[in-house]
This record gives sequence, structure tokens and C-alpha cells, in this order.
Amino acid sequence: MPSVLVLYLADKIVGPHLELLRNICEPNSKSKPHITVRYSDKLSIPDAHLRTQVSHIDLLEVGTFGLEVGSDQTNKTVFIRCRCDELLPLEHKPYFPTSEFHITLYDGESQNFARLLARLFRKYNWALQVPLPRAMKLTAIKIKPKNRRKQTNILDREYDPQVVSLFKRITQEKLSGEFLHSLSDKSRLRYAALVCDSLLNQTSSFARVAVPTRKKVNRLPGEASDYEIHLTPPELAQSIAAYACKFLEKSDRANIDFGDPAVGTGAFYGALLSVVDKKTIKSAIGIDISPKQVEATRLRWDSKDIRVIEADYLHMGDISQRNFILANPPYLRHQGIKPDYKRELRIRASTDMGMKISGLSGLYVYFILLSHKWMAPGAIAAWLIPSEFMQTGYGKALRYYLSRTVKLIRVHQFSSDARQFENAETLPCVVVFKNVTPMDSHTAQFTFGGTLENPVSSQDIIVKDLDSEQKWRVKQKALPHRDASGVKLGDLFSVRRGIATGANQFFVLDRNVAKELGVPKKALRPVLPKAMSLLSDVIEQDQDGYPRVTRQLCVIDTDMSEDEIQKKYPKFFEYLKKGIEQGVKNGHLVGRRTPWYRQERRDPAPFLCTYMGKAHGDKPAIRFIWNKSAAIVTNTYLMLYPHASVRRLMDENNDVASKLFDILRNSTWEAMEEFSRLHAGGLSKIEPRELLEVWLGPVPSEIKAVANPRLF
Ligand SMILES: C[S@@+](CC[C@H](N)C(=O)[O-])C[C@H]1O[C@@H](n2cnc3c(N)ncnc32)[C@H](O)[C@@H]1O
Repeated sequence: MPSVLVLYLADKIVGPHLELLRNICEPNSKSKPHITVRYSDKLSIPDAHLRTQVSHIDLLEVGTFGLEVGSDQTNKTVFIRCRCDELLPLEHKPYFPTSEFHITLYDGESQNFARLLARLFRKYNWALQVPLPRAMKLTAIKIKPKNRRKQTNILDREYDPQVVSLFKRITQEKLSGEFLHSLSDKSRLRYAALVCDSLLNQTSSFARVAVPTRKKVNRLPGEASDYEIHLTPPELAQSIAAYACKFLEKSDRANIDFGDPAVGTGAFYGALLSVVDKKTIKSAIGIDISPKQVEATRLRWDSKDIRVIEADYLHMGDISQRNFILANPPYLRHQGIKPDYKRELRIRASTDMGMKISGLSGLYVYFILLSHKWMAPGAIAAWLIPSEFMQTGYGKALRYYLSRTVKLIRVHQFSSDARQFENAETLPCVVVFKNVTPMDSHTAQFTFGGTLENPVSSQDIIVKDLDSEQKWRVKQKALPHRDASGVKLGDLFSVRRGIATGANQFFVLDRNVAKELGVPKKALRPVLPKAMSLLSDVIEQDQDGYPRVTRQLCVIDTDMSEDEIQKKYPKFFEYLKKGIEQGVKNGHLVGRRTPWYRQERRDPAPFLCTYMGKAHGDKPAIRFIWNKSAAIVTNTYLMLYPHASVRRLMDENNDVASKLFDILRNSTWEAMEEFSRLHAGGLSKIEPRELLEVWLGPVPSEIKAVANPRLF
């Protein structure tokens, strides 16, 4: 059921007077004086909005709806325009994108009476600040369909006792439905004037407020109707602003030059004001093609220092560059763009981009591409756009721009079952990027579902591997065990990379070859061959600690000095000399070690992870291995060391190791995919810190009891 979020004027003076005015002017109305802050049907009203406290509202001046020449509105409305800075960030009336806060005093069909009433009210100076009772909060009201509203006999309805006594004091009459209904329009106006006199008299000590001047604006010929404008709900605008802000360079964070190229009613500027200190905003520019939107934004945010420009953003000359752009551009599809206009845009954007822009591109594509010039070097931009650019042929230019020209930070695709707009059916996504050339190793976060702060799934992708010719897919898999009872891999294990010898072909030897080369056993450690040569994921051990695998390998690893080796193991020394001749000793990694044939310190780890691989059939891309041998591994593996508490449990109970192995293996499909990075050709890779974050499947209670959540 649709609902509205309203603020009742529940003070002791102004509220009762305005209620009485409404009762006199429109006796059938049972409405109490209020400001409508939000209309909501398909979206729900955030709880935080209901907790917002309002200290005062400003009454400004009299306004009317439906009295303009040529208006086809049946109801004529007379109201008091209001302002309330505390409520502006919550305002969202998607079907009336230019409507202002107001308190209705008459909403009826009589044009003549509405005119007379407006004329009467305009004789009074309404510009005053109304203090509200402490901690005044908003109320959400369900709007029942007319046929389900409770019917009461309007003639014997009961009035608020405060309003009754006010009426008595002002008019000496007894307030009743019957009395009000019997009044002529002339008497109504007379009583209304008495109530206004009383109101102004009783509020003479209230602070006066300045009323902003307003321009009369008409709809442009061919301008989008209000219904085609889909404003960003404030909570979404705020979450985008808060997220994107974090990526501003430190110097920019204290000197924000904000820009919104399709400002609407200023949802993003309002959001920015609520997430940063106003002092950090050095300048703000909002542009909109619609004079009505421009005027609406100006009236809302003028006092907060935004310069609102009425212009077609896609055809503007130079405007000073911005370091922070937040935008929800028009989603007009290519069929809706006038052919000449589109042709010119295509030519210009194609020249700017150095690539052909498809004629099937929606207007938002031009907005982003042509905004590149508006971004200062290092600027951050966050765009709320249809996610179809990732999947369509026309999206290629945008995919190219995002993956090659700028540094893509985040793509968050909302789930189709969680609407983001009250009045648009698009499946939107948020794209955040920085105006710097991306490095080859740069990764971007692709997330799906939930919210920007708390997505359902997330994946880091090396942007270089994103191909603009191909569709981009955001993984939609939910994490199965992400709840309070869940255990992360890092709660049970620490993770280290396998050793980097710096020259595997020299140091890693077949066990028999090492023997032939005269390398003593004490200078060798067993090492596991590459995962693809392993026939099983469980590595048993031979009696001497070597893994029971077809090809047993070892790595040279000793502290002995070259002198000692020369004396005791001359054959081995000859081999080392060969290494020196071949330049192994002075290699990048090897050259830093003393002695150069001593490897990094690693204990054998009971569990290993293959770190990088491709999925084949039902085999996951990344494998876990249970290593029962004393072999260590090279850096094609990650080594998982149980925390001390887990180790103790393993020592006490022989079953624990196999349970741990099952837990690890069960996590490979769903959870690992979330954290691994997908490279071109389906290659997945996971880094140690990412592995620590992997959520594990169900964990038996005795193991969960020793899990040790990492704090950092
Ligand atoms: C989707 S609405 C978004 C409004 C606002 N940014 C928000 O998020 O609530 C798009 C806005 O772009 C404006 N617009 C459409 N074409 C434009 C153009 N060529 N230049 C500037 N503004 C334009 C519309 O008037 C509308 O206010």
C-alpha cells in the first residue's frame, strides 16, 4: 500500500490555527496541517527517516495550484509554501519532481473561492519561523484506497478540543460540522480573516524569515513530463555520495568542486551536504535543461551555495573542471533522441573518444563520455545508470572508456528484485571511477545485490583483463554462509605464500638427481611438485617424510658455508659453482640471501591451496590439498597454517584434520568465487589476504569453538 511520510505541525499556536483555517475553508477535510516529505509506493521508507528530529519549519508565502490560466487540474489548491532544511535531505516526491514543501489550506473544486482565499491570505505576511515541540518526528501514513476509508458523518464529526476553543475565542461561535457546512463563501472568508488576524497576533514574537524570490517558469516545448524524470531516492544518493567521497585525493577531500550535469532537484548535492562538512565544498555546479528543475533546485539549495545553470549539458561550452561528479543522467533511449541531435552528439563523442559510438546508445552514454572533459585530473565520478551497458553492443564504447581511459573503481549492480526507483523500471548500477590512467595491475570491485555498502556478492577483477568487445557479467551468487555463525578461513588459518627460490630450475631438483649431484640429505628439503601433476588432493607421506608422489622433488636449502661445502661435499660445490657461472647467485631474489642457496623459512603446512587455475568440468578453479608429508611448496601454492588453538585440537583428535579438509573443499565453489579474481580466459587467482576472507561452509561445533576471529 502506498504511504506518505509527513511532518505534522504539532505546536500549540500555528498548528491549531492552520487546522481551523482548513476546517473553515474546506469543511469536508479531516486533514491536520502537515508537510508531505515523501511519497512511497514501491520503495520502503528508511527507518532512519522516521527517527529524524525536526526543530522548526519556516512558513514563507501563499501559493496555489490549478489557478494558472489554462490549467486542467480539477482541484484548486491554496497553500502556504514552507522551508525546512532538516527535511530537505529526506524529500522524495518522484511524481512531482518540482513540488515544494507546503501546508494545504484549501483543496477543492471552486476556482472562484480559491482565488478569493489566495487573495485574502496574501494580505498577511506569513514569513515566520515556527518552533516545533522538542524532538518532533515524522509519521508514515498508509494511503488507503478511497473506497476503503472509514466513512464518518461529516456533520457530527468531532474536532480537536484545542481547535474548538480557539474557534470559540476568535468568533464566539461553537465549532461544529453543521455550523461550518452552513456557511456561505463570504462568511468563510470573514472567519478565515479572523483566524489569520489571531495567528499573526499570536506569532508576533516569532522570528521572521527571508522569502526567496521566485521566477515564473513554464514547461519547455517537448520537455519530458514530470513522470519521465526519475529522481534518485535520498538514501541511495547518500550512499553513493558517501562511498564515492572515500576515493577523493586527500587535497580534494578538503576542497571539493562538485558537479551534477543533470541536477534534477539536487538529490546528489543534498546527499553530499549530508555526508561531508559543508566547509569542505569549495564550489558546486548543477546543470539541468529544464527551467522548472533549475528553479526547483535553486529554491531548495540556493542558500547552500550551489550554482544552478539552465543549459543542455551536452552542448555547453567550457565550464570549470570538477573533482567530484555525482550523477543520475536521463535514461532516454536512442529511439527517443531526435535524429539531428543524435547525429551531432555521435560525431562529437566519437571524435573525443577516438572510437565509433553506436547509434543505439542511450543518452546516458553521451553524458558519461562527454563528461570526461569536465573531470579534473584525479577527479572521482559516480554515475547511477542502467546496467544494460555491460551487456549490449552499444555499451562497448562505455566499457572501453571505463576499462582503458579511466581507473574503474567499482561497478555495483542492483538486483532486479530490489527496486531503486519509484517510477523507473530500469535495472540500475552504480559505476565509480577516477580520472587517471589505469595501471596494468589495477583491479576493480564488481558487486551484485544488496546495497552499495553491503553487497550480496563481490569480486575483484583485473581491469586490464576486461574486454570491451565482450559482455561484462557481475557475479550474482549469494554467499551461502555469511551470517553471524559463519567462520572465515582466516579464523582458522594463517596463510603464507610458498617459497620463491628465485631460480626453480637450479634449486628444485629431482630427488635422484640431487643424490647424483652429491647434495647431502641435510641440505635438501622435500618439495611438492606442481598441482597439475598431482593425482590426488590428499598427499600421503613416505617414511622419510617425502610425499608419496610419482616424481619426488627436493629443494636445496642449507646454512652451510661455501667453504664447508667445498671441503665436505666437493661434488655439490661444483654444482653451486655452475650456478655462480650461470648468474643464479646474483639473481634478483637470490642475490639478497645469505648464503644464496638458503631458502625462506617455511614449515610444512598441512593444507595447501593452488592459488591460481582454471575450472574444468566439475573441478573448481582453485583446489585445496591435504598435505600429510613434510614437503614444503613453491609459490605456485598458498600454505595454510592452523592457528595454535586449531593445531591443538588437531593434535588431540585425529578426525579434525579430515574435517578441516572437508570444510576447505566445500568452500571452493561458492565462496572462493566471490573473492578470487577472474582473469581473461577463465583463469582464477586468489591472494593470501583474499583467501583469509573466504567464508567457509558449515563448521562443526568443536572446530567453531576454537576459531579465532581476526580483528584486523
Ligand atoms: C534522471 S533525472 C535525475 C535528476 C537528479 N540528478 C536525481 O538524481 O534525482 C535527469 C535530469 O536530467 C535533466 N536533463 C535531461 N536532458 C538534459 C540535458 N541535455 N542537459 C542537462 N540536463 C538534462 C532532466 O531535466 C532531469 O532533471
